[in-house]
Amino acid sequence: PLPQPFQVPLPIPPVMKPTRTDGGTDYYDLTVRPADVEIIPGHKTTIWGYDGRFPGPTFEARSGRRAVVRQTNALSVPIVTHLHGGRTAPESDGYPTDLVLPGGDMAGMAGMSSAAPSMPGMPKDPRASVVTGVRNYEYPHEQRAATLWYHDHRMDFSAPQVWRGLAGMHLIRDDVEAGLGLPDGDRELPLLICDRSFEADGSFRYPAKDPTLLKTPGVDGAYRGGVLGDVILVNGAPWPVVDVSATTYRLRLLNASNAREYTLALDPPPSGGQAFQQIGGDGGLLPAPIAHDSIDIAPAERFDVVVDFSRYRVGTLVTLVNRKDTGGPGSVMRFHVAKDGPTPAPLPAKLAGDFERLAPPSGGVTRNFDFTSGLVGGVMGWVVNGKGFDPNRSDADPTMGVVETWKLKSDLRHPIHVHLGNFQVLSRGSGGPGASDAGWKDTVLVRDGETVTVAIRFDGYRGRYMLHCHNLEHEDMAMMANIEVR
Ligand code: C2O
Ligand code: CU
Repeated sequence: PLPQPFQVPLPIPPVMKPTRTDGGTDYYDLTVRPADVEIIPGHKTTIWGYDGRFPGPTFEARSGRRAVVRQTNALSVPIVTHLHGGRTAPESDGYPTDLVLPGGDMAGMAGMSSAAPSMPGMPKDPRASVVTGVRNYEYPHEQRAATLWYHDHRMDFSAPQVWRGLAGMHLIRDDVEAGLGLPDGDRELPLLICDRSFEADGSFRYPAKDPTLLKTPGVDGAYRGGVLGDVILVNGAPWPVVDVSATTYRLRLLNASNAREYTLALDPPPSGGQAFQQIGGDGGLLPAPIAHDSIDIAPAERFDVVVDFSRYRVGTLVTLVNRKDTGGPGSVMRFHVAKDGPTPAPLPAKLAGDFERLAPPSGGVTRNFDFTSGLVGGVMGWVVNGKGFDPNRSDADPTMGVVETWKLKSDLRHPIHVHLGNFQVLSRGSGGPGASDAGWKDTVLVRDGETVTVAIRFDGYRGRYMLHCHNLEHEDMAMMANIEVR
């Protein structure tokens, strides 16, 4: 039975506390483990969670201050964690074959103790760094303030593992942002939005071919396009509700869904003005706020927005709705404007004063990536430039620090994500950038038959990275390509 909407209070994931800090580094300890939680009131759901939570705890980082996250795998399957949007060295970037095998009691499991990945469907990767039990991930945070997130990236199994709960928010803050007087504290809400389905007993429903997630990857053929759920969760709660004051709030919108796109709007719309003032995108602050009545958000995209609830009467119930016509659930969560609040300060007209516009040099490198359906090892999967993923093949070798032009072309709809390199959209189809395309991005939706042209630069590190479709079922069906930054 589906839960009643707008009954469960919006949970706010706890902020992760360092176990120790020194001059320049915060050290964290995180165990990835199963836990029983109540998502649907009155039912128990077994999740896989960072620290046993879904979503995982929120990391709060300062730009330039390093973090070391010691992750212990207490699940029965391999994991690997990617900090999405992070400027991270290759060893800590969560390349899909850099597995952390189950430790402790699970280490002796048949086929699991071998250092070489050997799951069927997994290309052999001589460069894979496979460890048992524990890995330290190092995050230098040498980057702008931005809304990042972290999630599982296990080769062939990212989709079911994220579905079971392996995702959380990771915020980077800096002085530029702190100087803007943006709503903070209780008036800053991280909103991790995802869809899920449930069995009658409260367990997650997911059409995995192998529900143990140990051997056979993939989903039932009918779900090749991606798995959609019929319940929308925000911070792990079904269609939650939160009391707000009649003032401005900063919402960190993240679409953490496997495959669902949303068109987010407020119902009723606010009087006088547009619903959302976008202040940031995937990679940090925009040069200036952009007003939107609605926001198209594809899997893995983030929108940092300010909403002014003083434009509603106290007592109003404001629903965050999904206007996207996919025949899916039409609402996401609800805000109850419960009381008066401080008169909001107007947003600064300039946000990132030093916003750098990427311009490809004339005669520079242009690369084409074509995202289509295609055969992978004899079965229908998803391919890039006609080929399924192979960790041993270099599909692009950009030079560190040099701006390139990338043309991303698609047969259907694919949200394309690039590791390490942030980009700016130059054009979409025959027009300029779309309403969702502003600012620094690391994920962009390429729609049916469309070409999106971006200017991209890889900063900070050389080595092996990747780009891929962030429809997680497509990703697991080989829609990934290798980048070797020189
Ligand atoms: Cu959010 Cu390679 O992923
Ligand atoms: Cu795709």
